[in-house]
Amino acid sequence: MRRQDEIAWIRRFLAHEREGSTQLADSLLRVPAAHYTSSEHLACERSALFRGRATVAGLGVDLPGPGDYLSLDAGGVPILVTRHADGRVHAFVNACRHRGSPLVEGRGCAPGGRLRCPFHAWSYSTDGRLRETPLAETAFTELEDSERNLLPRPCTESHGLVLVRAEGDAAIADHEVLEGLGPDLEALDLDSQQHFDTHVSEWACNWKLLLSTFLESYHVFSLHRESVHPWYFSQPMLYDGFGPNLRFPVAKRSLVELAGQAESDWSLVDHATLQWLISPNTLLSSTRHSSLLWRFEPLRTDLTRVTTSLYARKPLEDDEMRGRLQQEFDLQLRVTAEEDFPQQEAVQTSLASGALPGVVMGRHEGAVIHFHRALAEMLAGVR
Ligand code: FES
Ligand SMILES: [Fe+2]
Repeated sequence: MRRQDEIAWIRRFLAHEREGSTQLADSLLRVPAAHYTSSEHLACERSALFRGRATVAGLGVDLPGPGDYLSLDAGGVPILVTRHADGRVHAFVNACRHRGSPLVEGRGCAPGGRLRCPFHAWSYSTDGRLRETPLAETAFTELEDSERNLLPRPCTESHGLVLVRAEGDAAIADHEVLEGLGPDLEALDLDSQQHFDTHVSEWACNWKLLLSTFLESYHVFSLHRESVHPWYFSQPMLYDGFGPNLRFPVAKRSLVELAGQAESDWSLVDHATLQWLISPNTLLSSTRHSSLLWRFEPLRTDLTRVTTSLYARKPLEDDEMRGRLQQEFDLQLRVTAEEDFPQQEAVQTSLASGALPGVVMGRHEGAVIHFHRALAEMLAGVR
């Protein structure tokens, strides 16, 4: 965050804390159960949120060198992102042009810059060109170029993030995805960070339930009373909306100590976890030593793949720092896997029963309300 934004946020927080108040949305929000359980609703989300709009595929530093790749699901479209020898990132449909096999799974580095299909070993360079069709040199001579090469998709790097559009060929404009977040991302300098580890898991609930657990700290005093509640406030909760995106730092209890210090000594990152929603399905958070990227991919209405990556904010020079980052990563994965995400699976069961008309978000859960209202606007095509 820029210095002036950091100071303004701390002032707002301390004022609410003194008054025993919190930021309130203009009204509460009711969300129908069908938004979590209906296949028709998911089909609309896939089309409007995940295919037609560009989304975050990862960080540029996930692909530090030529030949590096990562794969993802973007609204049901399998996508492969590569870094080519010229340093540029490319995105393709992750499917071989022969008989459609996925080319890669997860992330890695293509040996010699060649992506080899596991089915019949056709190979492609990282700019998508077909290079070899082993044992079949004369069998495909009638193929047009447009049938040989991987199907490209728009892809760009901006503020250290890799952005991909799964459908169509319209170029990606920065503000389309990162509206309002430019100054914060610049201050975070993601390009200078280093990938530490990635964890992938799947959860039997709707993607919005998992993501929303990060958008309010209201549950901290209850669901996390034995884990992180001793260090983090449940309230006040403050957020700033930027188009569909959000900034919502979660304050540690130590933040109140700043009230007795000169503003010139204030440092938010020492007393809060800074968090951003990059709509629709990416969360970025940052502490003094690390950044975390969470991506939520809806595989079904009630099945979500979660990809969590941790990055070191400074070069990883010693074992002490490696140990500290490992601890941070383990804590994040443990608290979400033991507390937040199983709770959401139980909520999904309630919603799937058909007995509940829907759920309600209170005015103090303003960031969750902002998230849902922005999704509704994108689905309606007004954003
Ligand atoms: S499907 Fe890829 S080589 Fe046959
Ligand atoms: Fe939580």
